[in-house]
Amino acid sequence: MGRKLTFEIFRYNPKDPKSVPHTDGFQLEETDSMTLFIALARIREEQDPSLQFDFCCRAGICGSCAMVINGRPGLACKTLTRELPERIILMPLPVFKLIGDLSVDTGTWFRAMNEKVGSWIHTDKAFDPAAQEERMENAVAEEIYELERCVECGCCVAACGTANMREDFVGAVALNRIARFMLDPRDSRTEKEYFDVIGTDEGIFGCMGLLACEDVCPKNLPLQDQLGILRRKMGWTALKNLFSFKRT
Ligand code: SF4
Ligand code: SF4
Ligand code: FES
Repeated sequence: MGRKLTFEIFRYNPKDPKSVPHTDGFQLEETDSMTLFIALARIREEQDPSLQFDFCCRAGICGSCAMVINGRPGLACKTLTRELPERIILMPLPVFKLIGDLSVDTGTWFRAMNEKVGSWIHTDKAFDPAAQEERMENAVAEEIYELERCVECGCCVAACGTANMREDFVGAVALNRIARFMLDPRDSRTEKEYFDVIGTDEGIFGCMGLLACEDVCPKNLPLQDQLGILRRKMGWTALKNLFSFKRT
């Protein structure tokens, strides 16, 4: 017989004026290889059909099942209950707008962030559908791919002290996006243009460097390295800007 798990799950429907934030308790017998996603699906099926939580791929790819699991942001579909104690407390990710219970709207936040930092290839080249694919060095393509693995789950944002205190902070996920475009030879943005986007308190200089983002990233992105590289690069650009300003 498996362990008897006790779940304490945050409940609140912001659209219902009668709803009050609270936690509900549920009990479930643990089965082999049970993930939190499986546990939640069983609770919804067998005990409370009104429980709200998000999922799509069930394989750590879509990023939609992120939640705070015993105080730490993580993906429900990638978390095995056997890695957790018998008492499991589930809360929605902070920072993002609450839809209900464990479901949050990460899409609106990510869209605004991507627009804010210009998260696409900036080029003046006209698109020619008949042209051959542009070649890129394998080593560069691999470096870009490493940073492209982000699934926009929001765990790094939820764990970030600055993002929790300041709505305007772009977060490690956006800084990682910019690091990715800086590597890309097809992006024509200059150092100064990148500086204008992230060389502020809303960007790299708002980061406190305590690296909760890297600790919780379920895709193990090298956020620590990228934040360090950007801080150095943007620091140099700030100095260059200062000296060129003094000469004029
Ligand atoms: S290192 Fe920077 S981006 Fe990462 S969690 Fe800390 S403040 Fe946020
Ligand atoms: S960087 Fe990691 S934690 Fe942050 S959104 Fe991407 S996959 Fe999730
Ligand atoms: S359901 Fe897609 S990452 Fe968990």
